[in-house]
Amino acid sequence: CGIVGMVGEGVKIESLIEGLEKLEYRGYDSAGIAFPEKQRVNVHKTVGKIANLKEELAPFMKSTITAGIAHTRWATHGAPTGANAHPHTDCKGKIAVVHNGIIENHSELRKKLINSGHKFHSETDTEVIAHLVEEHYEGDLPSAIRHALVDLEGAYAIAVVHADNPDMIVAARKGSPLVVGFTESEAFLASDVTPLLKYIRDVYFIEDGDVVLLAPGKLEISRVDGSTVKRPVTHINWSEKSAEKGGFPHFMLKEIFEEPEVLRNALAGRIKNGKAHLPEMESVQSRIKSARNIQIVACGTSYHAGLVLKRFLEDHASISVEIDVASEFRYRNIHIDNSTVVIAISQSGETADTLEGIRKVKAQGGTVVAVTNVVGSTLARESDVVVYLNAGPEIGVAATKTYVSQLAVLYIIGAYFSQIRQDDDRVIQIINELEGMPTVFESTLSTINESIVQLAKEYYQYRHFMYIGRGYGYPTAMEGALKLKEISYIHASAYQAGELKHGPIALLDKEFPVFAIVPDDGLKAKVLSNIMETRARNARVVAICTEGDQEIGRIVNSRIEVPRVSEVLYPLVMSPYLQLFAYHAAVLRGNDPDKPRNLAKSVTVE
Ligand code: G6P
Repeated sequence: CGIVGMVGEGVKIESLIEGLEKLEYRGYDSAGIAFPEKQRVNVHKTVGKIANLKEELAPFMKSTITAGIAHTRWATHGAPTGANAHPHTDCKGKIAVVHNGIIENHSELRKKLINSGHKFHSETDTEVIAHLVEEHYEGDLPSAIRHALVDLEGAYAIAVVHADNPDMIVAARKGSPLVVGFTESEAFLASDVTPLLKYIRDVYFIEDGDVVLLAPGKLEISRVDGSTVKRPVTHINWSEKSAEKGGFPHFMLKEIFEEPEVLRNALAGRIKNGKAHLPEMESVQSRIKSARNIQIVACGTSYHAGLVLKRFLEDHASISVEIDVASEFRYRNIHIDNSTVVIAISQSGETADTLEGIRKVKAQGGTVVAVTNVVGSTLARESDVVVYLNAGPEIGVAATKTYVSQLAVLYIIGAYFSQIRQDDDRVIQIINELEGMPTVFESTLSTINESIVQLAKEYYQYRHFMYIGRGYGYPTAMEGALKLKEISYIHASAYQAGELKHGPIALLDKEFPVFAIVPDDGLKAKVLSNIMETRARNARVVAICTEGDQEIGRIVNSRIEVPRVSEVLYPLVMSPYLQLFAYHAAVLRGNDPDKPRNLAKSVTVE
């Protein structure tokens, strides 16, 4: 999603639309704008491209307004329809709100507001904010917003206009980015700096818990308790053009760097009192309890996320799990009945093979739990229940941030199954660590990039790579190899490290390096022996291992260290390293990692 807001003398509807266009690169499914006019807020919203909104507003593009907020939406709660597009308004049509993020306690708040007489017009979590502000409004907009924020749980960046305060926008943030700035006669806000560069270079990144009043030529930042604060000014020397991908040279890199936020959104509201909390799964709880077998169906990267879930369920929910790629699953004669629970994983929710797979399951009476990123996708519509990734749109063809969010959501689903079927104490520890993952990702991503560039420089000219791993390390090896071949076109295959000696080892020599997945887990000693076997064939070895592992340093040529976590979480913490390695190798080879040859983001044919 993207937010833009402008207040002041020269603001035209056209300026807001132009701002939205600068955020187009973030991806969206609908767009809208609101501005105070004649004691009301005037709202325009359309589904699809910004061009549709432009068309609707064509006669007014040059009109001057006192203040306006605009939004591009990527659906999370409620399908991408006109009613669900932002801005959302209160009952009287005086307050309009745009929002990025997720309000976790929106159903509770909605019930309370409906009981006190509020009427809702959309299925979104955002609409509760407009009604809450209305509830608290007594003539002072910043104060009403401060009061409303006390009730909100979750992540947000919001911007609000009120018809009675036509020269003002009030914005607030917790967990979702927001940047503001001003000139002598105007003030601006946006989700990132790109829409602001046309007007200003000095900006303020506001912090969690800040409430900002924007008025012509001024900004006032306060905290929820009303005390005022100052935030440091940051000078941005980007050109307008360089900022189009948020300053990153490729979407893929930008998306990898979004992973901390993506993880936060994947986990938002899904851990309560140290346990997995998935109200969307309630209706299938009894079927999960009595399921005789679990089947996972997916393709590509989603299949690799599924492999991690398979092991998790076997380790912690005492059930045997079958997994297959959808193109095979749909043609197999496997027994399905009403005791079969199928977990279908698809980022896009539109992969043809996966859809055919679940149709077969439904026809035979099985239950389908979908895990997807796209609200309203075919998979979401045809499944019994859906758990959304909430990762925002992924534009790079190779899945990166959505893999990370799939893993996070699948750990939660695994824990949920475990709570229903077994109640394994180790899961409490895993959930606890999972909650800390956004912070772990923030600190790793702020430091690892340069060392991975160096590693990629050492290896990008090889023509082959073999990824090896065991246990949870094997899906990681498969995903690492897939990323490398997809975008760098270096031939890369993945093997269970123990299988090497049954054939693949014949390939190895000094021209055929090995990428070993070797975290400090129960199988480390075994992988070390396999590494020794490859060294004996003169293969160079890159190892990805747990930080501080001196032993590995002595036997491999290069190593990448990742933070120590529980065994099941290594596939997650290792992801950005493997993705960055593939990304830099691709760039060094002169490829466009966002649009790899022969590949499509979503494969809607068999
Ligand atoms: C395509 C993409 C892959 C993706 C796969 C499955 O092949 O290039 O990145 O993993 O489809 O897509 P899905 O949307 O079902 O997760």
